[in-house]
Amino acid sequence: MIPVARPYLDEEEQQAVRKVLQSGMLAEGKVAREFEREFSEYVGTKYATVTTNGTTALSTALEAMDIQPGDEVITSPFTFIASANTIAMIGAIPVFVDIKKETYNIDPELIEKAITKKTRAIMPVHIFGSPCDMKHIMEIAEKHNLQVIEDACQAHGAKFEGKMIGSIGHVAAFSFYATKNMMTGEGGMITTNDEEIYEKALMIKNHGRGKKGGYSHFRIGYNYRMLDVVSALGRVQLKRLPKAVEIRQRNARLYNELLSDVEELRPQIMEVGGESSYHIYAPRIYSKRVTRDEMVQKLRENNIGSRSVYALPCHKQDTYINIEQWRWAKFVKYPDYSKLSLPNSEEVGDVHFDIPVHPFVTEEQVEQIASTIKKILS
Ligand SMILES: Cc1ncc(COP(=O)(O)O)c(C=O)c1O
Repeated sequence: MIPVARPYLDEEEQQAVRKVLQSGMLAEGKVAREFEREFSEYVGTKYATVTTNGTTALSTALEAMDIQPGDEVITSPFTFIASANTIAMIGAIPVFVDIKKETYNIDPELIEKAITKKTRAIMPVHIFGSPCDMKHIMEIAEKHNLQVIEDACQAHGAKFEGKMIGSIGHVAAFSFYATKNMMTGEGGMITTNDEEIYEKALMIKNHGRGKKGGYSHFRIGYNYRMLDVVSALGRVQLKRLPKAVEIRQRNARLYNELLSDVEELRPQIMEVGGESSYHIYAPRIYSKRVTRDEMVQKLRENNIGSRSVYALPCHKQDTYINIEQWRWAKFVKYPDYSKLSLPNSEEVGDVHFDIPVHPFVTEEQVEQIASTIKKILS
């Protein structure tokens, strides 16, 4: 079976983890500071801080931006549900704006139409590693005095107009979940150039402690600290990231070429200025003979991993259809998500399927996968 995701772990990770274990200092400390310094250097931001995962990176960043209960945050429905949940977790209101069918990313023209007096922030999600149209999103944010939090949980190593993803919005969040372009099993990182957001994030992720640490606390916070054992893994993975992204991009280019003459398939197109890091390669299928689910099934029968990850966009999930069950619904008026119609997200949800693009996939395997797809369609 060629899996859809496979982590790269070897002796170097083992050595790095062993070293921390031998030191006896497992909790967040020196190794985390190094990881943060290296990650912020890579992304090109002044500040970075580790968290337990991408979800806590997003929710900490939202709190650090001072998003309040009842505030509206505009985001994409075509994403892993954590993007929306982190908004709802702090009592804010996720406002789902439809995507562009070709890029799978939030449509800036529709963002402007969704802005109300309660809108405080925009959360673009660089889906599958493909950057959103950050030029237009930042222009809209400036015009309406909104903050931008990039959900970069799938976009390590992606760029927009030459700038690293994670350095364009006011703040960004990354995930190091086991399947990501770089991974630590579970893990997260916040990046920002804004000192105030950074300082607040440090307190929020660490029980409201001040800079001196110890047992003086200044605001309600959580424990979202990352183990140094995990940071040690992250440092090695970060070194591997540029090469890993290069191979993903090569594989994606090959798929694009090999499948370009297949009429029933449409690839995910990049926004102008975007450079995808191809966390996921997911074309859309429009065939009268083979349904999307049949394609996924047949690929698996041919020992090729395939899924349709966001078949149900966020607004179609029970979580949002039954939002009145959420504790904040007693205090905050949520929209009736069940009435939402976001045709592009729903269509892409119905017709996308992903195929292996990770660095262990060889050029021969890309050719084999492409020809299997052609056979299934013929
Ligand atoms: C787009 C997106 N946002 C947020 C998250 C949440 O990250 P984590 O699983 O590390 O909490 C993920 C992780 O899969 C994601 O893909």
